[in-house]
This record gives sequence, structure tokens and C-alpha cells, in this order.
Amino acid sequence: MIIAATDGSPAATAAVEWAADDAARKELPLRVIHVVDRLPYEIPRYPIPGVQESIVQSGERILRDARQAVRTRQPGVEVTTELVYGVPAPVLRQEAEHSSELVVGSRGRGGFAGMLLGSVSSHVAGHVHAPVVVVRPAPATAYGEIVVGVSESEECDPALAYAFEEAKLRGARLRGICAWELPVHILGPEVVYDVEEIQHAFRQAATDKLGELEERFPEVEVTLDVVRGHPVAALVDASEKADLIVVGSRGRGAIGAVVLGSVSRAILHHARCPVAVVR
Ligand SMILES: Nc1ncnc2c1ncn2[C@@H]1O[C@H](COP(=O)(O)OP(=O)(O)OP(=O)(O)O)[C@@H](O)[C@H]1O
Ligand SMILES: [Mg+2]
Repeated sequence: MIIAATDGSPAATAAVEWAADDAARKELPLRVIHVVDRLPYEIPRYPIPGVQESIVQSGERILRDARQAVRTRQPGVEVTTELVYGVPAPVLRQEAEHSSELVVGSRGRGGFAGMLLGSVSSHVAGHVHAPVVVVRPAPATAYGEIVVGVSESEECDPALAYAFEEAKLRGARLRGICAWELPVHILGPEVVYDVEEIQHAFRQAATDKLGELEERFPEVEVTLDVVRGHPVAALVDASEKADLIVVGSRGRGAIGAVVLGSVSRAILHHARCPVAVVR
């Protein structure tokens, strides 16, 4: 089952529609959840008359609109809606553990103008086992291309598998991007690098990595870009002309306690298209 979370905002509506399309592609049922946080209105000894009823009513309206949006966009998708009481981020993290995917908007109804990623989206991406897709409202341009970050580490295996699957279901091309940089701290005059050699080694490793999945997905057309530069710049650039960008939750640089690496976090902030974070 796919879960879409909505607070009724434009980004959340884009997320519900994205989830409807993905549910149709993957032939999975869709569950739309709205979390109602009653706590901010529960002022001890000074109850605000009628406020509880009206936030429940507004929640029910948000869910009615979401169900209608799914019906219009993907009439074949089996959709259920649910109003859950609690604090949005932890509730969604818990609900997502029983799902195959959680889809949220990049922003919501809170926050401030110019903010790129809301607190709820940043607390779910990389924190749940299921893939989390973060969607921003965008014009409906289809480029027929999915971008995936490729490194030689095992951390990126689930992301690659997810990207191949999406490319196959959409009949889209898959562009692997492997970005590398020389480590700054050992650049002394006595250290000599053969940049060509390094570039070649990265290309070899990334080609091997993609090769494993190309056998399983022979119908997917794959290209590989090996770029010397920062991975965030390379991936954000590629997101301009992509339908979806897929990243792992962390790379090799991450220490145990880090659940979402700095590259994935930066991409969630700056990508121009929906981002899937796959752990
Ligand atoms: N109460 C909620 N119920 C269900 N989903 C929610 C709820 N609040 C947020 N979401 C999901 O998280 C996405 C991002 O919203 P988020 O709340 O993180 O951003 P924001 O409201 O702009 O900023 P803030 O961090 O101030 O709340 C929404 O598009 C929606 O998918
Ligand atoms: Mg919010």
C-alpha cells in the first residue's frame, strides 16, 4: 500500500496526485492520511468553544478533496482516507512502517515564505524504512527521464533498484550520475593525482553497479554521467530535466547516527522535481 500525507496545501495536493499516479503504475491501493494535532488548541482550563469540532470538520474536508483528486486523476485506483489524531511527523513515521512508500509534499500550510522544506517532510525522509517521495508543485512536464545517484557503496543499492523499477513502469530512460571530488585535506604539493585514472576508476565502479540491475531490467535504457564535482550540484542540475530523482538516504561519508546524509538533505531542498529517498 502507498500512503500519501496531506494537510490540504498545494504541495500536499501535488503529493496526493503523484501518489495516485504511482499507485496506478504499481497496481497498489492508496491510503490518504491527514493528521490532526489537537494539542495547540488544548489550553488547560480555558477551552476554546467549538474549536475541536471545527478542526475535525476541516480535516474531513481536506480528506474529501484529496479523495476527489485521486478519483479524477486515477479512477482505477483503490483509495481510502483516514483522519488520525496526533503529532504529524511521528504519526506518519509510524504509519509508513506498514507501507511500501510514503509520499509527502515539500512544503505544507505552515512555515514561512521562501522555506524550501517543511519540518514534517524533513522528519520523515530518511527516517523510515519505506521509500519517501517528496513532491513539489510543478508544471506537468514529462521529460521521460529518471535520475539516480550512483556510487560504488552498498548504501545505494535500494535506491538503484527503486529507480530501475520506476523507469521500467514509466517507460523512461534512466540517467545514473556519479560525482566525485578529490579529498581536500590531502592535497599537498607532494601528492600527485592522475585525474584521468581516478575518473576511469569511478566510471568502472559505477558501470559495474548499474550492470547488476541492467540484467534484471533489460528494457530500461541507461546512461551514465561521471562528473568531477560536488554531487549536490550535479544532481540538482540533472533534476531540471528529470521526472524524478532517486537518492539513497546516506552515502559513505555518513557516520552511524546520521539517518539522512547531507547530500540527500541538500537535494530535498534544491531539486526541481520530485525526490525519492530510499533507505
Ligand atoms: N497534519 C498533517 N497531516 C498529514 N500530512 C501532513 C501534515 N502536515 C504536513 N504534512 C505533510 O508534510 C508535507 C510538508 O509539510 P510541512 O508541515 O513539513 O511543511 P510546512 O507546513 O510548510 O512547515 P512547518 O514545518 O512549519 O509545518 C505536506 O505537504 C504534507 O504532505
Ligand atoms: Mg506544517
